[in-house]
Amino acid sequence: MSEIIINGGRVLSGEIDVQGAKNSVLPVLAATIVCPQTCTVHNCPDLSDVETSVKILTGLGCRCKREGNTVTVDSGGLSDYKIPESLMREMRSSVVFLGAVIGRVGKAVISSPGGCELGPRPIDLHLSALCKMGVTITEEHGFLYCEAENGLRGAEINLSFPSVGATENIILAAVTAKGLTVIHNAAKEPEISDLADFLNSAGARIYGCGSDTVYINGVERLHGTEHSIIPDRIAAATYMACAAVTGGKVKLNSIMPSHMMSQLSVFRESGCNIEISGKSLVITAPKVLSRVPTVRSTVYPGFPTDAGPLMIAMLCKAVGTSVFVENIFENRFRYVDELKRLGAKIKTEGKIAVIEGCERLSGAGCKATDLRGGAALVCAGLAASGNTRIGEIHHIERGYDDIVGTLAELGADIKYTAEKE
Ligand code: UD1
Repeated sequence: MSEIIINGGRVLSGEIDVQGAKNSVLPVLAATIVCPQTCTVHNCPDLSDVETSVKILTGLGCRCKREGNTVTVDSGGLSDYKIPESLMREMRSSVVFLGAVIGRVGKAVISSPGGCELGPRPIDLHLSALCKMGVTITEEHGFLYCEAENGLRGAEINLSFPSVGATENIILAAVTAKGLTVIHNAAKEPEISDLADFLNSAGARIYGCGSDTVYINGVERLHGTEHSIIPDRIAAATYMACAAVTGGKVKLNSIMPSHMMSQLSVFRESGCNIEISGKSLVITAPKVLSRVPTVRSTVYPGFPTDAGPLMIAMLCKAVGTSVFVENIFENRFRYVDELKRLGAKIKTEGKIAVIEGCERLSGAGCKATDLRGGAALVCAGLAASGNTRIGEIHHIERGYDDIVGTLAELGADIKYTAEKE
């Protein structure tokens, strides 16, 4: 298995295009199932999670083709409703196929998603909402058998927490259900609006995305469509953190600044200068990064949990002590022990991480424990003196389209140990 090797200390500079959003492309690919014609999805990043989604679609009988960053899916020949357990294990977010498959054929079988690297990730909100829409769920030997015997019907759903995945699953099940579905306390993430834009362009009638209340008027059927995935706000934050921690200056193109406001304010607080112009921004790092007293992750438009590890990696090099409070996932600090191998001074307790900035990080061997934690190691490795060797990089490849090539383009001394398969 190949590793990433970084010879740290290079100042990043230059210009890159930011990839399409991982958290958008996955639900949109699942959504092609409820559009039983050809759908063309542009700006699809080249990620292992996208490959897994395509495998699921193909396994269910869809015809998929990838040409550059465009994936075409023809779900007309859908012939199965069971999502293979191995693929479900590979990518927990494959749970979003549940709503899509039930929406299309009225039943689905998935394996019960267990814990993952971020701690337990239950799907109770997804399941209780589907039950309200007429789905009966039985659990046997670790599988969930879901069936809407009398068809799906619209329902009024109150989410106790604005779960991103639950909101997506409800939307996918509701687009062709009978009648109106209303989601109260819906997730407001831009990726939800992107999914709704895709579905509406295929004939769905979804209103209110981006607000607390989403209305879905069920329609008879959807048709094929063409859509371009929104930019990845977390990948953008990753490259910004890499620029900041190395004292660099980088221009990011193909971004949506309005999706990144909470992140931009933290970069500014750390002393970075950010100039926005249309769909581009330039980040210029200060000579020395300042501490950021407290950053709290929360739901959109608040600071995203997924950008937390990158912020923590950056604040390792700030002057003074910063605090990060993780409010979304229970067990998100596993990568911190790996950052400490590079000399980071971080203490964690429960949902709080206290980061004491230090002048020098030094290269070391470490392992990615999860996707964003892995990216945080890359970020810290760029700032560390000497060699950093990162293992278990399959976690990183789930969400970044050629992170090594992109950082090398910005002047980093970074490479894979061996040819990637
Ligand atoms: C999505 C994103 C992930 C991001 C997260 C929060 C995708 C593919 N993944 O994950 O990158 O970190 O949003 O922005 O889009 N919860 C329950 N019961 C449920 C559902 C969720 O208790 O039925 C809890 C989870 O355990 C977690 C919190 O709600 O503590 C947030 O989860 P959710 O918003 O559902 O995140 P995901 O959709 O899994």
